[in-house]
Amino acid sequence: MKIEKWIIREHLAGVPAVERIYEKVVEDVEIRLAPDEMLLRTRYVSLDPYLHGITLELPTGTPAGADSVMEVLEAGPRARFEVGDLVQGWGGWRSHLVSTGEGGPVLGGRVPLSVPDYRKIDPARHDDALPVHTALGALGGSGMTAWAATTKFLAVRPGDTVLISSASGAVGSVVGQLAKRAGARVVGTTSSPCKVDYLRELGFDAVVEYRHGDAVDDVCGALRQAAPDGIDRYFDNLGGAITDAAFRLLNVDSRVAVCWQWAHQVGAEESGPRLLPLIMYPRTTIRGVFALEWFTEQNWNALYDEVGGLIRRGEIRCDHTVHHGIDAIPDAYRSLYLNPSANRGKVLVEL
Ligand SMILES: NC(=O)c1ccc[n+]([C@@H]2O[C@H](COP(=O)([O-])OP(=O)(O)OC[C@H]3O[C@@H](n4cnc5c(N)ncnc54)[C@H](OP(=O)(O)O)[C@@H]3O)[C@@H](O)[C@H]2O)c1
Repeated sequence: MKIEKWIIREHLAGVPAVERIYEKVVEDVEIRLAPDEMLLRTRYVSLDPYLHGITLELPTGTPAGADSVMEVLEAGPRARFEVGDLVQGWGGWRSHLVSTGEGGPVLGGRVPLSVPDYRKIDPARHDDALPVHTALGALGGSGMTAWAATTKFLAVRPGDTVLISSASGAVGSVVGQLAKRAGARVVGTTSSPCKVDYLRELGFDAVVEYRHGDAVDDVCGALRQAAPDGIDRYFDNLGGAITDAAFRLLNVDSRVAVCWQWAHQVGAEESGPRLLPLIMYPRTTIRGVFALEWFTEQNWNALYDEVGGLIRRGEIRCDHTVHHGIDAIPDAYRSLYLNPSANRGKVLVEL
């Protein structure tokens, strides 16, 4: 059978030049499954900024990986899933793959990444209100990151001011809506002026326009207006000047969740501990958050019940921007960086 896939051709830092980094190849392969293997067809591919760091670490010639929803087309007699099952796990930018569905290391090095076993998607939990591709968004790694960081670490209290940098994406939009429901004043940032109204529609009390490269003092002025009582909880997707500005406004007993540092990945900013003096007086707790730490059966059930229930009842929104076809993957991925104003919520490709 023919398998289409994108492989990593070149390592290039900075904003991803997708036309050089990835190359599409078509392989004609004979499928012979081991007893525990499955042939899977990719249904949805999740596009996330963190893929850039992974691409830079993987050897050239490796297929581009990604969180995916896949359907089991064929299964060996000892395979962990059955023909027709839908599963979520580490698949990639490819039409089909052969896998046992067992997790394992994808990257070693300074930030080792070990992906979990494939997870079966229960069709009874999905319908028009919660389509199956939410398993890559609000009911997947993005939603788990947002829900768990907000409820388990940030522990947002009524009256808190919560800041979310890069708030319009799959993670930030859920953090903001959950924080609002917990009684907080919620401030979000976006680099796309056209998303200011979008964040307001989601219930954000104030929106600050921030783009990587803006001056710290300007950003701080805008943040002071948006958060006149200071910042109690900061969910950071970006780093850089917005984070420098936010740290100047931290209140006593504040908490900072570090989800990602755009400035480090895209801007290659390797800064020293310039912010640490600013956390002494407010006695701030800073914690990195990492989605996989919360991937337990109990948390998946809670995420489906709590976040799924809120979406189903129309109490929070989770939007998707769905592109179509394997050839659309690199451009859809590039849009995260170069055309973010076109995207709302989770960015996916349906194959
Ligand atoms: N720690 C973890 O376990 C974990 C788990 C999931 C995701 N993540 C990371 O968390 C972050 C948020 O995830 P997400 O899925 O919600 O992604 P996302 O926010 O949709 O990421 C892309 C967004 O970055 C913003 N952006 C683009 N260029 C920018 C620039 N020059 N300056 C400032 N902002 C810019 C754009 O939003 P605007 O147009 O609104 O500015 C764009 O939509 C991502 O970096 C992701 O990799 C981490």
